[in-house]
Formats: sequence, C-alpha cells, structure tokens
Amino acid sequence: MDLKALYKISYGLYVVGSRLDGKDAGCAVDAFIQSTSSPPTVILCSIQANQTNKAIKQTGEFTVSILPTDVDPFVIANFGYQSGRSTDKWANVAHKRVNDLPVLEKAAAFLRCKVTDYKELSTHTAFFCDVVDAWQGEGEPLIYGDYQKNMKTPAQEAFKKFTEGQASSAQQEKWICTVCGYVYDGEIPFEDLPDDWRCPLCAAPKSAFKKQ
Ligand SMILES: Cc1cc2nc3c(=O)[nH]c(=O)nc-3n(C[C@H](O)[C@H](O)[C@H](O)COP(=O)(O)O)c2cc1C
Repeated sequence: MDLKALYKISYGLYVVGSRLDGKDAGCAVDAFIQSTSSPPTVILCSIQANQTNKAIKQTGEFTVSILPTDVDPFVIANFGYQSGRSTDKWANVAHKRVNDLPVLEKAAAFLRCKVTDYKELSTHTAFFCDVVDAWQGEGEPLIYGDYQKNMKTPAQEAFKKFTEGQASSAQQEKWICTVCGYVYDGEIPFEDLPDDWRCPLCAAPKSAFKKQ
C-alpha cells in the first residue's frame, strides 16, 4: 500500500473555537468535512489528547473559522503549534464572539456547530455535528495543500519569532512602583531611564521602584 496516495485527499484549514472551564480554547484543524447538506451537518476529527477535544466534549459546541488564502501564517502557528494548556491562544489574535464562543475577526466564513454524536477512533474523536449557524466572511478558503507548499515555512518562522519574543520578555527584569504597583515593561532597560523619570501612573520618582 502506498500511503502517500492519501496525501492527494484535499482538505481546507480551519480554526476551531470552544470553551473549557469558562476559558476560550481552540486549535487548527484540517480534518473537517461537510457530511450532509440538508440538514447541514459536519464531521470533525479531533486529537483525543488535545485540550480542544476536552473543551468540545464539555461545551458540546464549537465554532469553525474557515481560514482565507491571505491568512497571517502566525494564526496557523498560534493555533496549531502550541496547546491552550500553556497559553491563551485567542489573546494573541484579533477575534470576536458569537454566542460566547470565539471566532477569528478575519475568516472566509464562520460556522457554529453542535455535537449530536461522537465516536472514539484510535487517536482521534470523530464529532458528528449539526451546523446551527453560519456567516459569510471575506476572501477565498485556504486549501491545506497550499498551506503545506507555501505557508508552512512562514508559519514556522512566525512561531519561532513569537516564542523568542516571549522568552526575552520573560527574561527581562520587572520593576514595580512601590507606591501604586505599576509594573515597568518598557523597551529601555529600567536602569537606563533618566533620573528624573517618573511613574506614568502616580508620578512617584524612579527611586520608588523596586526590582521584582
Ligand atoms: C496544519 C495543521 C492541521 C491540523 N489538523 C488537525 C486536525 O485535523 N485535528 C486535530 O485535532 N488537530 C489538528 N492539528 C493539531 C492541533 O492544532 C495541535 O495539536 C494543537 O496544538 C492543539 O492545541 P490544544 O491542545 O490547545 O487543543 C493540526 C495542526 C496543524 C498545524
């Protein structure tokens, strides 16, 4: 059997949005298809180990933002290369809410899906769902093969830049105003600020700041 033959099955690329314990969750998926048109139903294959899988099981509902061809590669990296267990992915992208579930601000279209049944496969859960709402967005849908060909490298680069930025801001020392609690997080190292610099919140002098 030539398993590479399966590479020729085509998919789109999507961001699923759900909620877990009152917080936003979600991830990038390609294994999502329309199963019937009347009534409109879809099937999502979700990795059992992922946080999004748990969120969908808890909420019984999720959104699907259909990524457009001009999607920022960081969006794919943000939702596909890291887990919501360690970061709030939705806080990193422009988004809005539909019935309390998050969707991307910029998508080719949006769906809201309600789980009617599910079946555990070896590594994934197949969620069988009704489409309970749908909206048009802007642009044409991105094809998974085009992501593989043209967008995987930019997505990996965007993610590298993002994680490096996170690491350097985590390393940066924090200075806190002992008067009002303001935390200095400017680009200029705190020691290099002029002596007459004052707290932007309460105008306390530089000497009122303590290193965290
Ligand atoms: C291009 C791409 C396609 C993906 N397709 C799927 C998919 O169809 N189903 C799935 O469950 N995960 C898929 N993933 C993996 C999840 O997005 C990834 O494991 C994510 O980190 C899970 O995050 P979570 O733990 O916050 O749910 C895909 C990732 C990428 C980058």
